[in-house]
Amino acid sequence: MSIEILLLFRAVHIVAGALWAGTAIFYFFLVEPAAKTLGPDGPKFMQALIQKRRYPLYMNVSSALTIVAGALLYWNMSGGLQLLWIQSGPGLGFTIGSIAAIGAYLVGFFMLRPRGERLGKLGQQITMSGSTPDPAQAAELQKLDQEIRAIERFDVILLTISLLTMATARYWVF
Ligand code: HEM
Repeated sequence: MSIEILLLFRAVHIVAGALWAGTAIFYFFLVEPAAKTLGPDGPKFMQALIQKRRYPLYMNVSSALTIVAGALLYWNMSGGLQLLWIQSGPGLGFTIGSIAAIGAYLVGFFMLRPRGERLGKLGQQITMSGSTPDPAQAAELQKLDQEIRAIERFDVILLTISLLTMATARYWVF
């Protein structure tokens, strides 16, 4: 890999990774709790963030760029997946970080996305009905909300592991 290509992949990887992990952590600890304090304006704010500002698209693009550029860097660094490098300190560190980040992506794609879409549809139904949620809708809203929060917590843990290992792996020695 030429130095220009390596620099390009590193720039894309690190900028996209910082945006992905940073935003997920910011969203979990600050945005969502703040939206929940807004009462009926909370869902409106979340709708604007998701539909008008396209938060899911932003997360999809930043995570995909991180993973694609990261996989190419991994291939390059490991000399085409050489076991000797993978078993070294840095090799183990980057491997753990890569698996954690890919795990976070898969959890987001297969567990968060469908629940987020269901929540959006339910919200629309309630808005269109022009009244407050009926008991079944209220129960489903609460269940979805709890599930989403638990999955997001797991996702944030995986991204933090990735962030920490990526930041330090180069200097792992044993
Ligand atoms: C939350 C997601 C991620 C973040 C924040 C992140 C961040 C970083 C940072 C800051 C570095 C520079 C470390 C250094 O130079 O010492 C790095 C390097 C690296 N990352 Fe990631 N990364 C993430 C996900 C991934 C994934 C999913 C893969 C693989 C599929 C990966 C593979 C690599 C590799 C191989 C390097 C070393 C590249 C080199 O030095 O040429 N990363 N990452």
